[in-house]
Amino acid sequence: MREITPKKIMEMKGKEKITMVTAYDYPSALLADKAKIDIIFVGDSLGMVVYGEQNTLNVTMEQMVYHTRAVAKAVKRGLVLADMPFMSYEVTVEEGMRNAARLIQAGANAVKIEGGYDHRKLVKKLVRAGIPVMGHTGLTPQRYLRLGGYRIVGETEEEIEEILRDAKALEKAGAFAIVLEFVLADVAKLVTEEVKIPTIGIGSGPHVDGQVLVWHDLLGIYEHVPPFVKKYANLRSIIQQALEVYRSEVKEGKFPGREHYWEFLDKEEFEKKR
Ligand code: KIV
Ligand code: NA
Repeated sequence: MREITPKKIMEMKGKEKITMVTAYDYPSALLADKAKIDIIFVGDSLGMVVYGEQNTLNVTMEQMVYHTRAVAKAVKRGLVLADMPFMSYEVTVEEGMRNAARLIQAGANAVKIEGGYDHRKLVKKLVRAGIPVMGHTGLTPQRYLRLGGYRIVGETEEEIEEILRDAKALEKAGAFAIVLEFVLADVAKLVTEEVKIPTIGIGSGPHVDGQVLVWHDLLGIYEHVPPFVKKYANLRSIIQQALEVYRSEVKEGKFPGREHYWEFLDKEEFEKKR
């Protein structure tokens, strides 16, 4: 059992802020866990940031299982959460159950689904079967075609009611937390006050119980990031520069240097590093 459990996440509400970041592979997950991030999340955003798709609709169960397995191997402390991809849980509760189980068997400690009220039966059954569930409302990217693109949610009474209804249905069905994506800050505050389970915001202001960001956005791996993201590093330029130096050193015959090949290697050092 990892140190951070869904129960611990629930107990953080009102006491300490919850931290969550996406990770899609072993080395990233190692670093996130070492940084003591509470929830290490294999998001279906991988379709976009890892596979170069325009949206998340093409992400498959196979991809989610594959990446969850790699992340789970790295994480000792944090809670490993995996996203249920588009159409892996919408058709029937049964199918949703089986697909959630695949993610758990790949090493996830919990699964996340988009929506709330519409999936209350599934959430309840998953929780009863021993699979902790996180909900997700506000901007739900798997429904971006219906939403008419990626946009702020909660500007109309109807949308506010829908978000509240989702949050309350998730709480009632036994979900342990809710992601609020790109929701007006005042609406996120209202939801956070109305439910006893923690809310984790992205682009939804400060009045929530925790924050989540996408790995590539937070680290500045791409030039363009959503406007609500803070870039904590500019890895893109660091990686670009390293690759350019490597290229020119090979072209110019500077690499490999004497210290990099066997005949001139310090054999003792080599043994130590091996
Ligand atoms: O897939 C993802 O990265 C997400 C977060 C934006 C919450 O669902
Ligand atoms: Na997602």
